Amino acid sequence: MVNPSVLVTRRWPAAVEAQLAENYNVVLNTGDTPMSPADIRQALKTYDAVLPTVTDTLSAEALDVPGAQTKIIANYGVGYSHICEPSARELGMTVTNTPDVLSECTADIAMTLMLMVARRAGEGERELRAGHWTGWRPTHLVGTKVSGKTLGIVGYGRIGQEMARRAHHGFGMDVLVYNRSQISPDVLAHCNATQVDTIDELLPQCDFVSLHCPGGAANRHLINSRRLDLMKPNAFLINTARGEVIEERALIQALMFDMIGGAALDVFDGEPRISPDLLQCDNLVMLPHLGSATREAREAMGFRVLDNLSDFFQGREPRDRVI
Ligand code: DGY
Repeated sequence: MVNPSVLVTRRWPAAVEAQLAENYNVVLNTGDTPMSPADIRQALKTYDAVLPTVTDTLSAEALDVPGAQTKIIANYGVGYSHICEPSARELGMTVTNTPDVLSECTADIAMTLMLMVARRAGEGERELRAGHWTGWRPTHLVGTKVSGKTLGIVGYGRIGQEMARRAHHGFGMDVLVYNRSQISPDVLAHCNATQVDTIDELLPQCDFVSLHCPGGAANRHLINSRRLDLMKPNAFLINTARGEVIEERALIQALMFDMIGGAALDVFDGEPRISPDLLQCDNLVMLPHLGSATREAREAMGFRVLDNLSDFFQGREPRDRVI
C-alpha cells in the first residue's frame, strides 16, 4: 500500500519529523514560513493530510476547494480557531488538535507572565540592560504581592485548571472561575475554586485575571473597554489564549491611563505584528507566543499529531477529533 502523502507547514522537532517520515510521504515546507491561502488551497488539492499550525490561516477562502484531496487536517496545537469550521465541515474534512500535552507548559508561561507583571520584572530587566540601574533603594520598582490574592480564570479547560493548580497550591491564591458550561463540583474542589455565572461578575472581584478560553469569532473582544472598566484599578490581565480575545485598542487605553495595574501578553491580534502603542506601555509584559515552547511539549504535540494520523489512516476515530 502506498503511504499517505502529508504536508507539514512548518519545521517540527527533528525526532517527530523522523518518525513521520517512516510512515508517510512527507513534504516539508522547508522555508518554515506561514503558508498563504493560495498555498493552502493548493496543498488541500494535493495531499492526503495537511498538518498546519496556528500561523496558517485556513480561512473560508483557503478552504474553498471543492473535491479536495485532503481528508484530514491534523493541527499541531490545541487552538484551532485559525481553521474555518463551517468550511471544513462542508468539505467533510476531519480536523484534530493536540490537547493535554501542552497544558502544563502553557500554564507555566501564564504564571511566568503573572509574576513578571506583578513584580515589574520586565521593567527591571530593561533598566538593567540599558545600564540605568543605580542600585538598591526602598522605593525602587516596587511591585505587587501575588501570594494570597484572588485570581480569576476565564475558561476552565485543561490549561485553566493547570493555572488554578499552580496559583492555589503554590501561591495560596483564591480562584474564581468563569466558564461557559458548568464545571463539576469535584473539579472546582481541586483548587477550592468558585464558579461565577458571568465575566462581569468575575472581573471586579479579582486582583489577577487570566484568559484561557478559545479564540475565534465567539470570543472576539470578550475583554473590551466596558469589561476593562469593571476590573479593579490595580488588577492585572494575563493572556495566553488568543490575541483577539482582548480588544487591543481598549487595552492600550487602559494601560496608558493606568485604569488597570498592568497586563501580560503571550498572544496578539494579528501576530507577529505588534502595535507600536503596546511597545510604549511600561506596565505591560510581552512574550512572543511561547506558551507551548518547551522541548517536551513541542515533541509531544508532534507525536500527538502522529497518533491522530494513525487513528485516521487505520480507520479508527481520531482520538482528538474536534471537527
Ligand atoms: C496552541 O497549541 O494553540 C498554541 O497556541 C500554539 O498553536
